[in-house]
Order: sequence, then structure tokens, then C-alpha cells
Amino acid sequence: MKGKFITFEGCEGVGKSRQIKLLEEYLKQNNVAYFLTREPGGTKVSEQIRDVILDGGNSEMTSECEALLYAAARVQLLKETIKPRLDKGELVICDRFVDSSLAYQGFARGLGEKFVESINAYAIENFTPDYTVFLKLDPERAFLRKGGADGKDRLEQSGLEFHKKVYEGYLKLAEKYADRFIVIDASGEKAETHGKIVSALKEKGII
Ligand SMILES: Nc1ncnc2c1ncn2[C@@H]1O[C@H](COP(=O)(O)OP(=O)(O)O)[C@@H](O)[C@H]1O
Ligand SMILES: [Mg+2]
Repeated sequence: MKGKFITFEGCEGVGKSRQIKLLEEYLKQNNVAYFLTREPGGTKVSEQIRDVILDGGNSEMTSECEALLYAAARVQLLKETIKPRLDKGELVICDRFVDSSLAYQGFARGLGEKFVESINAYAIENFTPDYTVFLKLDPERAFLRKGGADGKDRLEQSGLEFHKKVYEGYLKLAEKYADRFIVIDASGEKAETHGKIVSALKEKGII
């Protein structure tokens, strides 16, 4: 594959979507071509799976079911969109990817890293991003930014203890995959965080 695949990770409200928007503006201004997508979703089928996963009415969903749905949405997105674009040499940016499954389902839901890894080993054949921008900010502060959890979103209803586990999971992943993870301190102003992301991606030769 000739292109580059960059993912954004971090807790709810940490500023992933906002930072991706700022990066898009930067890339446009500098005439860098890119393709942006998100997880779960990004294709017609994957967006339908997303609706099932996030539906606040599905409180009885088991952790195993949830993990498999994420993997299903992911393989569809990978084969339909991400891989063909990488094959053409494009820069592909994705808001969340496999690390979200490892942090949320593996660590926080308690399914274990092994279980989630094995699902994804089957679904996406251990395909990994070239680099993962991890916006590092604890969930207490991230939630405050968002003005509290969204009652209709099943995952945001899960409470602070759950999100603390997600954060711990991310910290472990950042250590384990230190070559791939770009850890960005996201506690400052948006422009400050944006500057750190641009410098890091330049340093890695991505942009
Ligand atoms: N550096 C920052 N400082 C203060 N508020 C921020 C910062 N980054 C994002 N926000 C605000 O926090 C909220 C969540 O940001 P968002 O980009 O939607 O997070 P995510 O996509 O990670 O859930 C938004 O209201 C956004 O404007
Ligand atoms: Mg977002």
C-alpha cells in the first residue's frame, strides 16, 4: 500500500472531531489531498451498524455482540473505502479505529485485550494504522468540555468509571504500540493542540 493511514483516538469530548476539522483546514490550505472517514460508520452498511451500536434503546446488548458489531462495521469500511484509497496512494484519516475497540471493549467492558484482538485479527487481518494520534486528556476534563454526557448515546450513558477504564486502556496501548502512537497533550487550547498535531505529523513525514 502506498498511501498513509492516520487515526485519531481518545476519550469522549477530548476534541478528536474538532482537531480533525482544524487539520482538514490546514491540509486544504496547503493543498494536501486527504480522505476523511469515521468509526463506527463511514459506509452505508457501517453507518447502519453504527445506529444499532449507539441506540440508547439497546441497553440489553452484550459486550460480545457490541465487539463483533464494531469489527463488522470496521471490515466493511476497510475493504470498501480505506484499502482502495491507500492502494491509490491517498492520505486517509479516520476518527477512531481498532484502538477504540481495544480500549472500550477490551479494557473497559472487560472482554480482555486477547478476545478483542482475536476478533480483529479475523476481521481486518491485524491491519494497523501507520500512525495513531492519541489526544491525551482524562475523562473528567474531557466530559466537562462537552457539557456532560448525551443521554441518548448508549456509550456515553456508561458513566465516569467506565470512561476512566477506557482512558487507562488507551495509556496501556500507547505504551505497547509506542512506535505507532503519537501522544498529544490535549489539555490546552484548541489552537495549541492543533499546532502540536501538525508538528508531529510533519516530523513523521506524513504531511
Ligand atoms: N482544546 C479545547 N479546549 C476547550 N474545549 C474544547 C477543546 N477541544 C474541543 N473542545 C470542545 O469540546 C467539545 C468536544 O469536542 P469534540 O471535538 O466533539 O470531541 P470528540 O470528538 O473527541 O468527542 C466540543 O464542544 C469542543 O468545542
Ligand atoms: Mg467526535
